[in-house]
Amino acid sequence: MHQKTREQFLARLQPGVVIIPAAHEATRSNDTEFPFRQDSDFQYLTGFPEPDAIAVLRPGHEKPYVLFVRPKDREREIWTGIRAGVHGAVDEYGADEAYELGEWETKLPELLRGNRRVYVKLGHDAAVDEAVIRTIADLRRRGRQGVEAPSEVIDPAPILAEMRLFKRDEEVGILARACDISVEGHLAAMRQTRPDMNEYEVQALVEYEFRKRGASAPGYGTIVAGGANATILHYVENNRPLRDGDLLLIDAGAEFGAFTGDITRTFPVGKKFEGAARDVYQVVLDAQHAALKASKPGSTLDDVHNAACRALTQGLVELKVLEGDVEELLREHAYRPYYMHRTSHWLGMDVHDVGAYVRDGEVRSLEAGMAFTVEPGLYFHGDTAAPAHFHGIGVRIEDNVLITPDGHRNLTAGVPTGIAEIEALRGEG
Ligand code: GLY
Ligand code: MN
Ligand code: MN
Repeated sequence: MHQKTREQFLARLQPGVVIIPAAHEATRSNDTEFPFRQDSDFQYLTGFPEPDAIAVLRPGHEKPYVLFVRPKDREREIWTGIRAGVHGAVDEYGADEAYELGEWETKLPELLRGNRRVYVKLGHDAAVDEAVIRTIADLRRRGRQGVEAPSEVIDPAPILAEMRLFKRDEEVGILARACDISVEGHLAAMRQTRPDMNEYEVQALVEYEFRKRGASAPGYGTIVAGGANATILHYVENNRPLRDGDLLLIDAGAEFGAFTGDITRTFPVGKKFEGAARDVYQVVLDAQHAALKASKPGSTLDDVHNAACRALTQGLVELKVLEGDVEELLREHAYRPYYMHRTSHWLGMDVHDVGAYVRDGEVRSLEAGMAFTVEPGLYFHGDTAAPAHFHGIGVRIEDNVLITPDGHRNLTAGVPTGIAEIEALRGEG
């Protein structure tokens, strides 16, 4: 898959040399690191799982794929795990040539010379940027000796983003698996959550299901937000007790094979949706149905968002939170105090995945192979003008969809959204 990706990527470039750095480890405290997560573009092109590596791609060259990797090191490997080394980079990961990272700066001049163009992700890795710029300057000084220095530096990120926006069949399979695992985590929480549990216990339930089913990690910080915590969009403390009578909002996705799901469900801490919470939930559910209906080829993410905003506005009028003509209220964005985020973002290797939303000044049309979220919500902070019985209610419903030639496939439909279906599950466990 990665070899095919490299070929498709290089076919989109003009002749030149491409430099793609891997991610580095990040310190968590003193001498311990956060779990390593590979850079998505590097992962996409190489599948090489180690930190600090650098891929050099040379379209048209007889050895087009060069990898610089951490050296084998018996002592380090005893402490922190086996490294592929230069032989593994070639034998297991398909590099045409591999070198130890220590050789990177000495090899760089010969890799760059004779190329008019260098493709390098700018502002991404300061050490790589600096090495490339310094090497170009050095080569330029040697012009009288017949050395041809690159004269164009091009950021390949938009090209990679455009490729990653369209999920190929293998990638759809992996994304769907990430979504399936995410579904299982949400189902477990929906079945097993009980009043007086703490938010962190529910987080543990969800993440246990993820890991048990082979997810590498959550694709982003799991949000388990009881009651008014749900009105904080990216609440991550997850440390308050749950109270009967409140709603619980869970926004969590499993990462599998470097793709992630991104699901939100909101359900009662008790067994039933009641009172104002039930009314608000129904409005968000109607908005979600309207937004899903607009998710098809030829629509745009603006159409999806507008469908959600129209339904939310209608609902807010029915709830007597807003007053007036729906069209007029829509034009004034009167829903904004209660719905302050967009309805969709691209989804893939990054939860907020790469891909241009606008092209040539126009919101682009949806096409088969694009994957994104549909996630309307309503959030009533205590300081809004809404009647007091709404204060502290936060509801979001988020599904992951893939555009198909004749509509969309909802990859996360396995977790119910309907009130009756959710209440049925709340009785299980
Ligand atoms: N979990 C982040 C988001 O829904 O965008
Ligand atoms: Mn989410
Ligand atoms: Mn999302």
